[in-house]
Amino acid sequence: MKISVIGTGYVGLVTGVCLASKGHQVICIDKQAEIVNKINSKISPIYEPGLEELLSNVIEKGNLVAATDLKTAVMHTDISIISVGTPFGDGKIDLRYIESAAQEIGNVLKEKNSYHVICVKSTVIPKTTDTLVKNILEGTSGKKAGEFGLAMNPEFLREGKAVEDFMHPDRIVIGAYDEESFETMRKVYEGFFDAPIIKVNLRTAEMIKYTANALLATLISYSNEVSVICEKVGNIDVKEVLEGVTLDKRFNPRVNNQLINPGMVSYLRAGCGFGGSCFPKDVQALSAFSQEMGYSPPMIQATLEINYAQPYRLIERLQEILGTLENKKITVLGLSFKPETDDIRESPSLAIIKGLLAKNAKVIAVDPIAIDNTNKKFPQNDSLYYSVDYKNALKDAEAAILVTPWQDYIKISPQEFKELMKEPILVDGRRVFDKSAFEAAGVRYIGVGLTKNL
Ligand code: UGA
Repeated sequence: MKISVIGTGYVGLVTGVCLASKGHQVICIDKQAEIVNKINSKISPIYEPGLEELLSNVIEKGNLVAATDLKTAVMHTDISIISVGTPFGDGKIDLRYIESAAQEIGNVLKEKNSYHVICVKSTVIPKTTDTLVKNILEGTSGKKAGEFGLAMNPEFLREGKAVEDFMHPDRIVIGAYDEESFETMRKVYEGFFDAPIIKVNLRTAEMIKYTANALLATLISYSNEVSVICEKVGNIDVKEVLEGVTLDKRFNPRVNNQLINPGMVSYLRAGCGFGGSCFPKDVQALSAFSQEMGYSPPMIQATLEINYAQPYRLIERLQEILGTLENKKITVLGLSFKPETDDIRESPSLAIIKGLLAKNAKVIAVDPIAIDNTNKKFPQNDSLYYSVDYKNALKDAEAAILVTPWQDYIKISPQEFKELMKEPILVDGRRVFDKSAFEAAGVRYIGVGLTKNL
């Protein structure tokens, strides 16, 4: 099929490249000529494992081209997939990019005679496609929905695994305005995957996406809430508690006497909170949307509140030991919101750095690839230094806080901490280190969800 993909952020580009790799003819549209040029030169503007290789492949085969001209693309394709950003701002989801994409497509539809499906892939609150997008398309094109198709096809791509997730989806959700829209979208995925296709209406598709992200975020906040209770009681390790819970066969079944260890279980772990470009924004947008309709969703709000507080709890734990953090040299291990990405959006590291600076600590922030992005977030500050070398950063530090479980950091031995740091204190914000090994080596260990006997 001939497909336009509007917006070449990580969702748009991954979608375009993966669909092209399956034989579709794809035009990726972006307003920024610089990005378009990069794509056409086979350079991926974003870092995503496997993406650049696949991009180069599909360009060489002639299955993908990038352009700034939306009109020509829509004219010559059967489907437009909208994958522009939907940030959270001013207390609610900001749909301005969706609106302008719909307007531009509608203007082209006015002149186009053949059938065209407009599919929203961006994460948008329920009713966006069947109300806002539909109204704009009808208003600008002078046609009625039905004369053009309308679909909502959310993505479930994890950063760092986006190509793998696209190529091996667990489900394909297609919200459709009518049968013809659905059939057209089904053809996009035909013979492509053997994943189940879930056929729903437009707003259900939108709600599935929010519910999925809010549920995963809630599992994290629930685990963090339990961690606070464990800390208050003393001598209960939240890690053991959650392991004890998640070995329940309903969470973790055995096949041939082997535990399956479903990915979902790893969201039931206490830590320093969730971050990234999706969970925080989507959970806030869902909460704001629900409130707009007159219902304050207590569980979703609690998920956000717990997550907001969690990074600061680590600082409080450290302060209890050190008394004051003023002029204390503290190393923050890891800045990105998760390993294998340089994305620091809503990363707990930002709250931790802010909290430490507010207490006049001297902060050394370490990360293999996310320093540039973090640096942009903090105006020149004499108390904040960066290093890509953790050894350098740990040298003479009074405490270290593990925020991002990069492989290199979780492999640091207790002896190394002991040798490099003054009187080593380690705050394990991800519960990845072995407490007894650290204590045996003379490192004071503070773990989320674990306090001594009270
Ligand atoms: C998330 C969802 O996982 C995707 O399904 C969804 O498509 C995507 O948002 C989106 O809306 O576009 P992503 O933000 O890349 O993907 O990140 P995750 O890997 O899920 O991590 C989010 C947070 O959960 C991070 O703070 C991370 O530390 C935490 N996490 C991640 C866990 O606690 N356990 C894990 O196993 C993985």
